[in-house]
Amino acid sequence: MDSMDHIQIERGASGRLAQVLAREELPPRAWVIADTTVMQLHGQRIVGELTHAGVAVGSRAVPPGESSKSVATAHDLWAWLAERGAERGDPIIALGGGVVGDLVGFVAAAYLRGVPLIQVPTTLLAQIDSSVGGKVAVDLAAGKNLVGAFYPARQSVIDPDLLATLPREQLVADYAEVVKTAMIFDADMFELIERSVDSLHDPALLEELVTRCVRWKARIVDEDPHDRGPRAVLNYGHTIAHALETVCGYGAYRHGEAVAIGMRGAAAISVRAAALAESDAKRQDALLRRVGLPQTYAKAAPDDLWQAMQRDKKVRGGRIQWVLAGRIGAASPGHHVDPAIVRDVLHELRAPAA
Ligand code: GLY
Repeated sequence: MDSMDHIQIERGASGRLAQVLAREELPPRAWVIADTTVMQLHGQRIVGELTHAGVAVGSRAVPPGESSKSVATAHDLWAWLAERGAERGDPIIALGGGVVGDLVGFVAAAYLRGVPLIQVPTTLLAQIDSSVGGKVAVDLAAGKNLVGAFYPARQSVIDPDLLATLPREQLVADYAEVVKTAMIFDADMFELIERSVDSLHDPALLEELVTRCVRWKARIVDEDPHDRGPRAVLNYGHTIAHALETVCGYGAYRHGEAVAIGMRGAAAISVRAAALAESDAKRQDALLRRVGLPQTYAKAAPDDLWQAMQRDKKVRGGRIQWVLAGRIGAASPGHHVDPAIVRDVLHELRAPAA
């Protein structure tokens, strides 16, 4: 499989969806699903452009936020598609961030046993991560992403210009995953972000960073499409991030903020357990700080994070598998780390009492 054959990255690409449908030999009938915010910001324009190009469009908006990533919302969308007579060849267009991409991807995967999915991601995180690689899912009360599938999009149409409407705090949070990608794979990109940190919203910069990140993600997905081994490297910073999100509740930190704190922890562990140079860890932390990301947590106790990691450990069958960096631009999964090191690092990451 070559994932890049199914990905288009170009400024303005979201205005040319009718050509994408024609090129993919899809029928001139499409179902556009977004949340209410994105439908207003971009959906109405996109529906108008598709209609103008002769595509018959049905559109539907779901409430914004993680709570829409549910079996109940998926059921509503399936019922809507069935009532409106959506057929097996009709493309479903998922227009939005990670929540809509995952939800609508899951809806497309199961409706009529699978209909063509077009991902049009509208956040930096969705453009570089969730719209690439075919993971689609909804949440259960017992946890996030517990029901899902691997269902690659027929096309991911990535338009960096859509990022212009993102609130700055959201863009900054999503930059954590760009820095993460640089730490894992790409020392040149790391330097590029260091040089460009004062112009994070610059459209040409975003196009360059999105393109590089997507190429790296596509490469690892092609190596490990079903997430059975090397793809775990994408979880750099995520072991501590997931514990923070579990203990503090989703929403206490934006995902990227939790990842930034987790990356600081992963680098500190890497210095002690994977020979990462202290100077490289300091460079990573300085870059995250300059981007505007948090360095410490205050909303949890280190012991609670440790306990959350132990529960996580069980579902991975034994011991925590850490992703550690050996240098900037080179990380690897599957490391076992002395628990005493992890506990020390969790204490160091805790913000000093005011
Ligand atoms: N977001 C991690 C992955 O796609 O594997």
